[in-house]
Amino acid sequence: MGNIRVCLAGATGWAGSALARGVFEALDLDLVAAVSRRHAGEVLGEAIGCDGLATPVFSTAEEALEVQPDVFVEYTKPGVAKGHVISALEHGAHVVIGTSGLTGDTFQEIDELALEARRGVLAVGNFALTAVLLMKFAETAAKYVPNWEIIDYADSGKRDVPSGTVRELADRLSAIQEPHLDVPLSDIEGPKESRGVRLQGSQIHSVRLPGYTISVDAIFGMPDQKLILSHESGSSAEPYVGGALLAIRGVGNLVGLHRGLDSVMEI
Ligand SMILES: NC(=O)c1ccc[n+]([C@@H]2O[C@H](COP(=O)([O-])OP(=O)(O)OC[C@H]3O[C@@H](n4cnc5c(N)ncnc54)[C@H](OP(=O)(O)O)[C@@H]3O)[C@@H](O)[C@H]2O)c1
Repeated sequence: MGNIRVCLAGATGWAGSALARGVFEALDLDLVAAVSRRHAGEVLGEAIGCDGLATPVFSTAEEALEVQPDVFVEYTKPGVAKGHVISALEHGAHVVIGTSGLTGDTFQEIDELALEARRGVLAVGNFALTAVLLMKFAETAAKYVPNWEIIDYADSGKRDVPSGTVRELADRLSAIQEPHLDVPLSDIEGPKESRGVRLQGSQIHSVRLPGYTISVDAIFGMPDQKLILSHESGSSAEPYVGGALLAIRGVGNLVGLHRGLDSVMEI
């Protein structure tokens, strides 16, 4: 089997440039096209300071997809991600979505298009292995502990709320059971916002402060005992590279939309 041909949208960004280097170094992957408006027409290696990386940079996903990649990686921003994914499916590519902030309706639409096209779409809110493990462990906890809440931490500059990691976690936990609230939201005294936002049944509290990159606490409480699952990532984009490479290698075996890296892992 030949190498997997990869097109990376957002290849000059914080997360995308680290992944571009990872794809470049992987012997079984070829980075055949990149997308960035500011570096269009350049060679990617020059744009991100990576010697020998000769991938052409295009200003739009449409142009980049003309090179017919096997896998399109979406790593730009929420507002443009959906259009890119639809375009990639129309061009016959499988898709890995790293961009956060996509909502349930968009995922449903993408799922229908992917099923029609007989292609896989793998959306991963957080490629970091310890975040993936937190989601797995939280799913197990939710089977036995009916009360939980989630705290979502990120840098003060992050605009999308809650984070993609936490949206994915809430979606996954909602498939286990609806968490129990001892005092319903309609009966609380004081500002309702104090109880956070209810997303897919989970109460979520978002903290945005300098010093955080992406962290999440999933807190499961029972009378006189509690379990706190905590994932923290630092300031480099390194934690996301290995997981994204796994996703790129595995998405070709999927059809339709799948959420979470464990769709292509044996855990
Ligand atoms: N799933 C995960 O594990 C994970 C990890 C890290 C980040 N993320 C998410 O990934 C996304 C990117 O994060 P980041 O920090 O890398 O952002 P960033 O540093 O701002 O990079 C964004 C990239 O997208 C490109 N871009 C932006 N708008 C575009 C458009 N309209 N058309 C084509 N290219 C466009 C930018 O290049 P130009 O401006 O030159 O076009 C740049 O290459 C965010 O949604 C973030 O939350 C997810």
